[in-house]
Amino acid sequence: MSIFSPATAREREENFESYWRYQQRRDGEILEDAKDLSEKRKSLVRFQANPVRTRRPVGDAFHRNYLTMRDAPRSLDRRTLLLTFLYKFARHEWIGISAAWDETPTVARAAYLIDKISRYHLAEEFCHMRLFQEMFRTFGLEGVEWGPLPKRTRQLYGAFARLPGPVVAPPAFVSELMGLTVYLQLDTMLDGIVGDEPEVRDRIRELLRAIMTDELSHVGERRNFMGPIGLRAARLMVRPMFRAFFGGIPEARLLFDTRQMRKDAEAFDYSTIGPDVLSVSWAPSYCTPRP
Ligand SMILES: [Fe+2]
Ligand SMILES: [Fe+2]
Repeated sequence: MSIFSPATAREREENFESYWRYQQRRDGEILEDAKDLSEKRKSLVRFQANPVRTRRPVGDAFHRNYLTMRDAPRSLDRRTLLLTFLYKFARHEWIGISAAWDETPTVARAAYLIDKISRYHLAEEFCHMRLFQEMFRTFGLEGVEWGPLPKRTRQLYGAFARLPGPVVAPPAFVSELMGLTVYLQLDTMLDGIVGDEPEVRDRIRELLRAIMTDELSHVGERRNFMGPIGLRAARLMVRPMFRAFFGGIPEARLLFDTRQMRKDAEAFDYSTIGPDVLSVSWAPSYCTPRP
């Protein structure tokens, strides 16, 4: 069923409860100081204890182009394009979550359920940043960092995070949806880009799926924040937000069919997600057929 399916206030309340149970079951305890979650930490340790490394490190081409494109994008091979894109994509997210983290109460101090949910949600995003770093290491890129945060950008995101909930909900939902369409697209491209190194491909896919499972649940969670007006606003925001975001990253058009991705987002439906991801993720009850 469509992510844009309607819901009553009562249904949304029940879904927040169900989502909160899901988060705790999946993530374990929150580790506030480390912006980490106990179960996610265990899984990262498992990846790190069993490293997979490419025989063809990406190296110089990445370092020359990951902050700003210095070479002609068309002259770069697809692995480099994939990684410089991923860096820009992840860094953008890192700026947003870093600013939002400072604006949300800790779980211990949270007065409302939605604040606890938001805190866990942000901690999950920080865990994704570590999984991205593990992807970079898989391609021979050690010590890839996100900072420093430009002051203007930090202020802008900080101001965004302080806006009233109903105003933030539609764009926050659309950015999760945008993230999900990127991951779904990347998943289908891995064979073409790293298929010549099957262990590398499988490891990247595992890391990607770990993120994708959370992002799928975030899309549902963020959907649950919106009433009918928010939902209508969100639908209208898909096109301009996709355009602005992908227009700012030169790699995007070379890697993806961004127009198709935008259409996929506008028509997003849980029936397009494979059972392996769907069964371990979370979706609102009113968007999934009743058993
Ligand atoms: Fe994310
Ligand atoms: Fe997310």
